[in-house]
Amino acid sequence: MDYKQTLLAPIQIGGLTCENRFFAQSMECTDADEHGNPTDLTFQRYANLFKGRFGLIDLEAITITLESRGRERQLSILPENEKPLAVFIKALKEINPNALIVFQLTHSGEVSDSEFSRRVTVKPTYGLGGELIGEEEVDAIIEQFVLAAKIAQNVGADGVDMKLCHGYLGSQILRPFNDRPWKYGGSWANRSRFAYDLYERIASETGYDKKFLIGSKVSMWEGYPGGFGSAGPDSPLMDMTEPIALLKGLEERGAQYFVETLGNVHSSMDFMEATGENPYLSYLHFYFTNLMRQALRKETVVIGSHFSSFRGKKNKLLSIEPEKSSMFAMGTRCIEDGMMDMIGLGRQSFADPLTPLKLIEGREDDIHYCTQCMNCEELMLRQQPVGCVLFNKYYRDIFAKIRKEKGKLAELHT
Ligand SMILES: Cc1cc2nc3c(=O)[nH]c(=O)nc-3n(C[C@H](O)[C@H](O)[C@H](O)COP(=O)(O)O)c2cc1C
Repeated sequence: MDYKQTLLAPIQIGGLTCENRFFAQSMECTDADEHGNPTDLTFQRYANLFKGRFGLIDLEAITITLESRGRERQLSILPENEKPLAVFIKALKEINPNALIVFQLTHSGEVSDSEFSRRVTVKPTYGLGGELIGEEEVDAIIEQFVLAAKIAQNVGADGVDMKLCHGYLGSQILRPFNDRPWKYGGSWANRSRFAYDLYERIASETGYDKKFLIGSKVSMWEGYPGGFGSAGPDSPLMDMTEPIALLKGLEERGAQYFVETLGNVHSSMDFMEATGENPYLSYLHFYFTNLMRQALRKETVVIGSHFSSFRGKKNKLLSIEPEKSSMFAMGTRCIEDGMMDMIGLGRQSFADPLTPLKLIEGREDDIHYCTQCMNCEELMLRQQPVGCVLFNKYYRDIFAKIRKEKGKLAELHT
């Protein structure tokens, strides 16, 4: 199978050309400085992805407010971050001017860490709680998102990923569980208002510029009763009516791309990040990606996720020959079958940020493959700088030190 022909083919996203089908997933790495600016460590990570020839890179969840955050050393996008972000993007674009980068804008809402920030909620979820927010506060948050999108445009980013996934504020508002009767809850018209208004405002404030992309990573199904993609406020039944309506509504309001995901950080992590014990969950993602692809216009780009399970030609997946289930073979197949347009690499982008480059140069055998050990996730939950513990000594040392000091982490959940 000639992977190169498919995976290295350019693709149009809005008014921009992406040089290949490799998407570097948004990966929070908690290595910003105390003002939320990128550090040398942050730069090094992204420099590797630019050098590694990813066509489209999603900058990790960058907070639009300091008040409610999931990570203490999270990148932030406030007026005071504008200059450092501009320097950061300029330096990255010098490495590979063809690579596109979008910023994943986020507000952590009910999964904000109450150790150092304010946990707020649109309706308290069992086991999480939080301070109930009102309409005016959500209106103000919309303004913060719009300002952040303008900053992203000013600093030279190629667009934004309005985060609507994994249980962060954008997805909390959308879910049927948010049945509180208010401007942003209850009926679908009310629950979709936040995302729709935001898109309309961002599109208008960024000048309807086709070269400034607007898209979202969406948890199509959150995987618990009342979560997004379920049939009612406490229903355990999956129902894709609202997720599909959301995609179409956002497309009408200017979305040029979507990234598929499932689950949320509080209750359904395995859907969000298949572990080494459950690599077969990756196939589930393809079902949803295909639904997205079928529902949207041809020119709207759909990006599939969860390719870190497939590894190289020596993977251990059962029931199918590894040559057919390796990352490149599976990605090629998914694109050629029309299930998606691009493939997203998350943990694999830590294990080997040069993955696309090695394919381009015919050095496939040199690729380091992610083993889904989840040690990167553990570093993140422990608020440490995040990277590949297996293949990068810098992170291996941090990991060994923290395990020695604090022991094993009981549960990999927020
Ligand atoms: C350490 C870590 C950080 C992550 N940070 C983000 C993030 O900032 N935003 C996001 O949408 N997903 C985040 N994810 C999820 C990944 O982007 C991706 O969707 C998931 O890992 C599945 O892809 P993979 O199998 O290629 O790793 C993170 C995952 C990990 C392990």
